[in-house]
Amino acid sequence: MGQDSIIVVGGGHGGSQVVASLRSEGYEGRLTLITAETDIPYQRPPLSKAFLKKADHELLPLRPASFYEKNAIDLQLGTEAVSIDRRGRALLLGDNRRLPFDRLVLAPGARPRLPAIDGIRLDGVFALRDASDARRIRDQLFMSDSIVVVGGGFIGLEIAATARLLGKRVTVLEAADRLMGRVVARQISEYFLSLHRGWGTDVRLNTPVGHIVGSSGGVAAVETAMGDRIDADMAIIGIGVEPNIELGESAGLATDNGIVVDKNMTTSAGEIYAIGDCAAFEHWELGRRVRLESVQNAVDQAKATARALVGKAEPYRDVPWFWSDQGDFKLQMVGLSNNATSGVVRGIPDDGTFSVFHFDNDRLVAIDSVNRAADHMVGRRMLAAGISPSPEACADPNTDLKALIRRPASG
Ligand code: APR
Repeated sequence: MGQDSIIVVGGGHGGSQVVASLRSEGYEGRLTLITAETDIPYQRPPLSKAFLKKADHELLPLRPASFYEKNAIDLQLGTEAVSIDRRGRALLLGDNRRLPFDRLVLAPGARPRLPAIDGIRLDGVFALRDASDARRIRDQLFMSDSIVVVGGGFIGLEIAATARLLGKRVTVLEAADRLMGRVVARQISEYFLSLHRGWGTDVRLNTPVGHIVGSSGGVAAVETAMGDRIDADMAIIGIGVEPNIELGESAGLATDNGIVVDKNMTTSAGEIYAIGDCAAFEHWELGRRVRLESVQNAVDQAKATARALVGKAEPYRDVPWFWSDQGDFKLQMVGLSNNATSGVVRGIPDDGTFSVFHFDNDRLVAIDSVNRAADHMVGRRMLAAGISPSPEACADPNTDLKALIRRPASG
């Protein structure tokens, strides 16, 4: 019998965490991390913010290169996984190698969705996912005076705020009637709309992109679906992502807007796990299958998977949280507000620090905080413990939320 072997595909936050957690959980078999990227796994969130601001801003590795060596993790950079031979229990690589495994973890993430419009392939049109995208965007941004951002979600707005700080003329085209509509409450959308407009960004709601106008291979302008023309030197597309399911799908794994996994991140094939942006799981509270795109979800699912792989499986039930930094405003979200029936505000929006507490009938389900980290942190603990103060208590600035965690019985 040879030594047990686990291969992890994908060097993002999730993939890098799985290998680290496997070692800290005591896994002693062979461990390989395969990533198509040529950079050692690094922090992705700064790519739309600090990284774009300065030409010499370096990537921040999640773990030093020595970590992989010390922990006997075979980190294979610049390596593409092309298919899974399930019968032969092997992963086939782009360079025709064949790596045998006993168990496989898929953490391939997601890729930017691109609209099928004229001009999308022009030089000067970008989407942001990885460090190589960020480097190209940064180079072009420094040479540009005017940029159009397509999509008023997290990525688009973070880049728009950064570009304004660099003094660029910025236009944001958002198809929906509000910003960040996928995730935040309407009040937060409106608040950020006035922030961005206050910073001098031309934000246009109800305005889908029409097409991109080129000139000598580059971008000359972006036209809206209504035919308005905005002159620009570059266009950045941030209209959401699609999960990288192809590797799993071609191996016959069940998919449903992602690779379907159970509460221990096991796919429909018992020896294969999937985590992070690509994994669709049954949410214990919402009662339906969801796919979450966040660092927290990737990291916590990675930890849950590592535990399952060493025989200490526990159902994945971590409270979801997200954040987005736009200019010097920090937006933090905990819980899922999709099913909320009402919300109350704590704090003073005009002072630039407030939270919206969301309720599903009487139950606290989510909190969106603006420059109010204390509410976010206490919210994470309340939601994890199932503590649900009344809407009145949450809105009352005199309520000591921390005290409710210390004395959960009164909650
Ligand atoms: N024209 C203009 N806007 C569009 C169009 C279009 N054709 N199609 C979609 N949009 C808008 C959507 O209405 C939405 O507001 O683009 C926005 C996309 O927002 P997100 O779904 O949040 O996606 P994005 O900002 O690209 O973020 C991608 O990166 O930071 C992570 O959590 C984030 O996983 C997410 C990913």
